[in-house]
Amino acid sequence: MWPYPRTLAHRGGGTLAPENTLAALRCGLAYGYRAVEFDVMLASDGVPVVVHDPELGRTVAGSGHVNDYTAAQLGAMEAGAWFGPEFAGEGVPTFDAVVAYCKAQRIWMNVEIKPAPGVDVATGAAVARVTRDYFAKELTAGELLPLLSSFSIAALEAARQAAPELARGWLVEAIPSDWAQKSKELDVAAIHCDHQQLTPELAREVKAAGYGLFCYTVNTPERASELLAWGVDGFCTDRIDLIKPV
Ligand code: G3P
Ligand code: MG
Repeated sequence: MWPYPRTLAHRGGGTLAPENTLAALRCGLAYGYRAVEFDVMLASDGVPVVVHDPELGRTVAGSGHVNDYTAAQLGAMEAGAWFGPEFAGEGVPTFDAVVAYCKAQRIWMNVEIKPAPGVDVATGAAVARVTRDYFAKELTAGELLPLLSSFSIAALEAARQAAPELARGWLVEAIPSDWAQKSKELDVAAIHCDHQQLTPELAREVKAAGYGLFCYTVNTPERASELLAWGVDGFCTDRIDLIKPV
């Protein structure tokens, strides 16, 4: 059973706001999205921050790598102006700030653990620990918790060790032929795949085995309906303006 929302705003607000910023979350909410996917990696001081690329330059003004800077330094960097002048002044938010916002607004989170090269274990463990600490009350009350996911097997294993009580999703491009064995070993609740690599047969097999099935990144209502008809449980989208949240 998939206890989570079906439609998630990718990187906060899809392509309608600067990705992985608090402005993106506000934008998602304005479109009625109360479920979101975003990416987390570690700053140089070990603090988890919300950003997609390990290198600066594309969305964050600056040079070098995310893990060359502390969370406070990243928070002061420009992460909104590339998208439009009205977003100037948005910094790289800490994971902590994003969780606080989402909790206050009752936004459900799929937290993608996105380690910079070589720091998979530390990133997986830190994200899981912070999440568990933030949701300690919900954990004991049996309420809906965030879902962690990652392409990094090492990060997933570290997250499992640090907070085994948090559900995890295994992110892949195409679902590999050994998915059943691997999913069991990793003890994941769901498989997250590129929708363009999914077939109805594979969707049926994954669902028949009892796993959640999540797709990224689905940008037309027609494709969304098709995937849901195949048994896909949920997906993230860049087009929060085209796809109504459910
Ligand atoms: O979590 C699904 C999706 O976000 C994976 O790709 O590169 O957008 O993080 P990416
Ligand atoms: Mg992502």
